[in-house]
Amino acid sequence: MAKIIIEGGHRIEGSVRIGGAKNAVLPILAASLLASSGTSHIEDVPSLLDVRNMAETITALGATVQVTGSTYQIRATDIRSVEPPLDLVRRMRASFVVAGPLLARFGEAVMALPGGCNIGPRPVDLHIKGLEALGARAVIEGGFVHFKAPRGGLRGARVYLDIPSVGATQNIMMAATLAKGQTIIENAAKEPENVDLANYLNAMGARVRGAGTDTIRIDGVSAMHGATHTVIPDRIEAGTFLLAGAVMGNGIYVENAVSNHLTPLLAKIQEAGAEVADDVTGVRVWPAEGSRLRALDVKTHYYPAYPTDLQAQIVAGLAMGLGTSTITETVFENRFMHVAELRRMGAEIQVEGRLAIIDGIEKLSGAQVTATDLRAGAALVIAGLMADGYTEVMGLHHIDRGYDNLVGKFQALGANIRRVEDDE
Ligand code: EPZ
Repeated sequence: MAKIIIEGGHRIEGSVRIGGAKNAVLPILAASLLASSGTSHIEDVPSLLDVRNMAETITALGATVQVTGSTYQIRATDIRSVEPPLDLVRRMRASFVVAGPLLARFGEAVMALPGGCNIGPRPVDLHIKGLEALGARAVIEGGFVHFKAPRGGLRGARVYLDIPSVGATQNIMMAATLAKGQTIIENAAKEPENVDLANYLNAMGARVRGAGTDTIRIDGVSAMHGATHTVIPDRIEAGTFLLAGAVMGNGIYVENAVSNHLTPLLAKIQEAGAEVADDVTGVRVWPAEGSRLRALDVKTHYYPAYPTDLQAQIVAGLAMGLGTSTITETVFENRFMHVAELRRMGAEIQVEGRLAIIDGIEKLSGAQVTATDLRAGAALVIAGLMADGYTEVMGLHHIDRGYDNLVGKFQALGANIRRVEDDE
């Protein structure tokens, strides 16, 4: 089994460049299906399993995707199916957002219901409710949702989201671009990745206003065309390296990090004693006194609050913190599975439902641990950098889904880290 081997205790220094945001690229690739003419050029696309899965999904529908370095060239003029392959949709929940573009352009979409995953059941009821509000009929049968637009196509509507769901906001926003009339999405997700998606949609000829706020207005247009778009940097990858720098760095520079996408993280690591300085091209971070974070209370919530995708990483950092910290995970039902793995390294953490209580210890000890989701994997790498001795991290398929060359980037920063494949 492939694993990452880390010898802890080595400080990291130098600079690392952050790639394009996974959670922006995925809906943007889906949105490329809306173009009935022209070619899209999507730039700064990271090399990730999830991105290749989404490219495979739209290719299976009839799009052509040409990859040159980190640029994806996409033509969606000859779409021949409205039913993405079952195995691809089951493998990656994010592919559910191809429903909106298919429904908008072709009046139909047949989607496998995504399974749950390690971090929770991950329902799609808000996606379905939103698309139905635009006039679609949704029939759930045999593990599939069959969406059908009314004769004459989707119609604009006012949609209130009970939860500011990132995916549901994306699906409804994309469906609304070709609907007749105006759609208003209230209590919309405000993540920067949704703003990036809206910017790409507008470059394609859509009319989306208010992305990044609670209320998004979309005025339907008759057709859309390909466009060129550079993906925003990945704030979660940036946050992962900033946290590593806050506990094990000698002043690392995270190039291409967008500080105003990282406000809650930067506030928390400064509260914990680390120092940060941002400039136009990135953010530098210096470790807390003695490289041990002061105790914190962290509560994850929807953007712009502290992101759930950086929860596991700060739990790892606080495992060797000074004093007792609390982490409240309000977004997902079951996102503390990394705690059991950190306990194998000596961490003293109690979990009670959505609350984790961390009693910081002097030193973690290296151990064999397994990633349970992609952000837990990154957290275990950070813990391995901090620990005494050797740590082996398994479950790398999780890490490969969302991190582009994590090992290589940490090696370049001076960490004693390597990846061994099955047969080594
Ligand atoms: C996106 O997932 C991200 N994935 C997740 O990142 C991220 O953790 C999550 O947003 C929250 O920020 C991508 O963008 C590909 P949600 P998504 O819909 O859209 C509930 C990573 O590590 N909900 O905002 O699936 C849901 O169960 C991944 O990169 C419903 O109840 O998240 C959850 O509790 C992990 N009904 C909450 O809303 C619905 O119809 C937030 O989910 C949809 C969601």
